Amino acid sequence: MTTLEEVRLIGPGVDRVDGPLKVTGAAPYPGDFSYPNMTHAVLVRSTVAAGRIRRIETAAAEAAPGVLAVITHRNAPRLGRGPTASGISQPPPPLQDDRILHYGQYIGVVVAETALEATAAARLIEAGYETTDPVLDLDDPRADVLANPWGLDAHRGDVAAGLAAADVTVEETYTTPDETNNPMGLFATVAAWDGDSLTVHDTTQGPDGTRSVLAAAFGIPESAIRVLAPFVGGGFGAGIRTWPHVVLAALAARTAGRPVKLVLTRPQMFTGIGHRTRTVQRVRLGADRAGHLTAISHDAKGSIAVEDETYEPVAADSATAYACPNVDTRDLQARLNIPVPTFMRAPGESQGNFALESALDELAYALGMDPVELRLRNYAEDNQRFGLPWSSNALRACYEQGAERFGWWSRDPRPGSMRDPDGWLVGYGMAGVSFFWLQLPCQARATVRRDGTALVRSAATDIGTGTYTVMTQLSAEFLGLGIDQVRFDLGDTDMPMAPTAGGSGLTAALGSAVRAACRNLIRALLDLVAGDDASPLRGCRLDEVTAAGGRIHRIGDPARGEEYAGILERHGLAELTADGDSAPPAPQDAGMAPAGAFAARFAEVRVDPDLGRVRVARVVSAIDGGRILNEKTATSQIIGGTVGGIGMALLEETVTDPGTGRIANATFGDYLVPVNADAPDQEVIFVGEPDRFNPIGVKGVGEVGLVGMAAAIANAVFHATGQRVRSLPITIDQLL
Ligand code: MOS
Repeated sequence: MTTLEEVRLIGPGVDRVDGPLKVTGAAPYPGDFSYPNMTHAVLVRSTVAAGRIRRIETAAAEAAPGVLAVITHRNAPRLGRGPTASGISQPPPPLQDDRILHYGQYIGVVVAETALEATAAARLIEAGYETTDPVLDLDDPRADVLANPWGLDAHRGDVAAGLAAADVTVEETYTTPDETNNPMGLFATVAAWDGDSLTVHDTTQGPDGTRSVLAAAFGIPESAIRVLAPFVGGGFGAGIRTWPHVVLAALAARTAGRPVKLVLTRPQMFTGIGHRTRTVQRVRLGADRAGHLTAISHDAKGSIAVEDETYEPVAADSATAYACPNVDTRDLQARLNIPVPTFMRAPGESQGNFALESALDELAYALGMDPVELRLRNYAEDNQRFGLPWSSNALRACYEQGAERFGWWSRDPRPGSMRDPDGWLVGYGMAGVSFFWLQLPCQARATVRRDGTALVRSAATDIGTGTYTVMTQLSAEFLGLGIDQVRFDLGDTDMPMAPTAGGSGLTAALGSAVRAACRNLIRALLDLVAGDDASPLRGCRLDEVTAAGGRIHRIGDPARGEEYAGILERHGLAELTADGDSAPPAPQDAGMAPAGAFAARFAEVRVDPDLGRVRVARVVSAIDGGRILNEKTATSQIIGGTVGGIGMALLEETVTDPGTGRIANATFGDYLVPVNADAPDQEVIFVGEPDRFNPIGVKGVGEVGLVGMAAAIANAVFHATGQRVRSLPITIDQLL
């Protein structure tokens, strides 16, 4: 088996193994599943943000054509709340009382023969409310404020003394808006009961999590539930939690006594599957004349729903991003009458990085120092939270190679000093990124068959990131098979347990489990031939062999080995299966701090001097993601994340009506996301080396591509115009 010393940093750009299925429309997304005798459910939502339901008229809906059931809080059964696991809490179960906690809360579900009939009947339901004044503002004194919910607030040294000793200080407030995850695929759930057993096809980033929520909701064992998600039409974090509509689909199916399909509408996607909450962030930096940071203080306040426990550490990463003796980070969350939020692509980090990296740019200008140089002067050689060396860190190389490739050093630092041939202002901006690390326990199962092919599987998901492909590559590598001899299956709770695809941690967790399963499979084959006189591998230990060309052989002696097929045949086996699992060690035990991805982002913007229009002209991203398993899918992931970052910088904002809590722009016509015309030329460079913290050397590049873009673009806009925009998105009115 290959060791980390032997693998290349960047793996081959293998095409997506699921690509043909996707482009031919053959890949089944959750809403594509159907059952005989299936019915359709449509949700009814609250039109107010706080209060109580005083009356709800369902008679007309019940009498409407095709209607089979109407469920409201008046006739819904008691439903249990899903457990909190691995820091992921679950929203409260739906329809349990008459209280309204947010606009868009489900107050009913209609089940009918067709989707059209269910939609028509749902419109006939009339609700009357006793409303109260909703708590919608972060600074509303009525809001409960949670302090340090993750226990990640950092306090090091003496910030006041550090600021007092500084030659230059920056003290500014940065804000980011509510944003909505908005995967293209409408979230869908298809639920079918067979007696007390439940099968669910669901848009989820973790089938095991969905299963545990359904088990709790209905008080049935997890073993009675199967959740499938072989394909997911995007998630961006929206599929990390299990939402009330999933429970309602299963409830509707049980009530109607028939399978049910429920597909959210786009407006429902804005209230029913989470969003990134707005933040207000106060950053204070102090530095000496030479640019060495003497103090970092980062206070962030975001929001959380009334009955929810989804915490988002916005300021926390500022404690480890730069070497600094005096650091305070503080995270607060105010409870508001808002739709239940969720993690959204690079949760916390994307907002916190915007504030910190904008403030550093301001500091660079205050010092008269180049922004890259300022970051290099404050390079964090160790992880200051753990007091341990990083498991890997090539951030310095990210700065150097990214700047080189971008042509950063040709920049005239004076704001407004550069113009393109059309007279538009040109700005160069950059940002550094130190992404957090996450790896959860995971399991996988590997089978080799007598025909020389292998099947490897785990209950994980591929939300478009390339999990199918990179796990096929890894399995083929560990078993010494060709890619076309390996099939990787996922998205089914009947397979070994996997964590949700989130926190950029799945590839490391699952890849390590796949490695363990493949090693255990080879060990099982060696056990089989341990006393087998016919086997050239007789008596070999696992560490004495390697796998290549469909066979196992002694390291350094390819002649002494045999094919999988031969072993299985001699022992009368059609196939052999082994399980494997992975769990990361504690940093102190490993003697190193697990590093997430690092990055340096460089953006060029063009600003129309007359109208304030901003275009991103090009982006160079230098990424240290540890070992890159597949150059093509990893590059795609960074490009996609960058486009998301452009959305965050220039376009995205979920607008809530301040009086009613209604989401005012809950359509793709009104909520702006980047389209191809907004996506510039991009260059992605991977630097660094395989990471030391897990056996496959991977750090994860799921989310790092988004982080840093908002600050790099805002910094570029400042360079182009001299206007410092501290409030996202950067809009024309802020530049005129
Ligand atoms: Mo991501 S917000 O961990 O899908």
